[in-house]
Amino acid sequence: MSSLFDFEQREERYAVMGNPVSHSKSPFIHAAFARQCGHTISYDAIQVDTGGLAQALGNFQAAGGKGVNITVPFKQEAFALCNETSLRAQQARAVNTITFRADGTRYGDNTDGVGLVRDILHNHGGVIARRRVLLLGAGGAARGVAGPLLAEMPAQLAITNRTPDKALELAAEFSDMGTVTGCGFPALAGKSFDLIINATAASLHQELPPLPEDVVAPGGWCYDMMYSAQPTIFMRWASEHGADKALDGLGMLVEQAAEAFYLWRGVRPQTAPVIAALRKNN
Ligand code: ATR
Repeated sequence: MSSLFDFEQREERYAVMGNPVSHSKSPFIHAAFARQCGHTISYDAIQVDTGGLAQALGNFQAAGGKGVNITVPFKQEAFALCNETSLRAQQARAVNTITFRADGTRYGDNTDGVGLVRDILHNHGGVIARRRVLLLGAGGAARGVAGPLLAEMPAQLAITNRTPDKALELAAEFSDMGTVTGCGFPALAGKSFDLIINATAASLHQELPPLPEDVVAPGGWCYDMMYSAQPTIFMRWASEHGADKALDGLGMLVEQAAEAFYLWRGVRPQTAPVIAALRKNN
């Protein structure tokens, strides 16, 4: 027999949609946040075929889903499928968190950039303000973090890309937010930076961006937005080239999830125990 209590205790449903998605750590992360906060939710990984995002979102929403995270390769498409989007999603032109509202509309946000910034500032005790920051790449990953990085008021943000025109275009788009320049890798010769963030897909292919030998300033940090059980090729390069710290993107992953959880659930979970658990399981 059903009662009012059944209704109160019903799980609220969330999911991550992507392709591939079976190895996503998001179900583990959100389950840990929910346990920590005493919330009853379900969070699944849903593989979506190319061209199938609109249908998948519609189905999940019709089944009473409260929200979804969107991962590769659907973040740009998700942006177009929302009724309203946040400023940071508009800057990124991509959405990684959708909230299904009671009136049936979809609110799209992007928590990737704030996840990166929180990981650097709060988890690692780093500084972005007044520092010379180099952002490697000019694809979706770089676009997603440029706005939140500039909001921290670095001395400069240099965007460097294998295809220089894309870096120039991205820099021009963000030029009203601070000192932003765009260039190709050869133009980095003779320059050095306090914080170098790898937003290229190079580490995925075990490749290194073609950086000059002395690009890491004394005391400089390097951050790879990728992560893997072993230090990435970029992290190893950073350690060999004088970086004070060589960081991976695991903390960013957990922080972007925490921001999504906050958007959905109104509670900010603690991230440190979840990051530690993921490192242990890796
Ligand atoms: P994402 O959404 O992950 O950013 P993307 O939009 O396809 O994916 O962008 C990939 C980025 O990684 C681009 O900046 C790409 O440079 P190009 O614009 O010149 O293609 C960069 N990239 C990929 N492999 C690279 C490599 N081996 N060295 C340097 N940059 C690389």
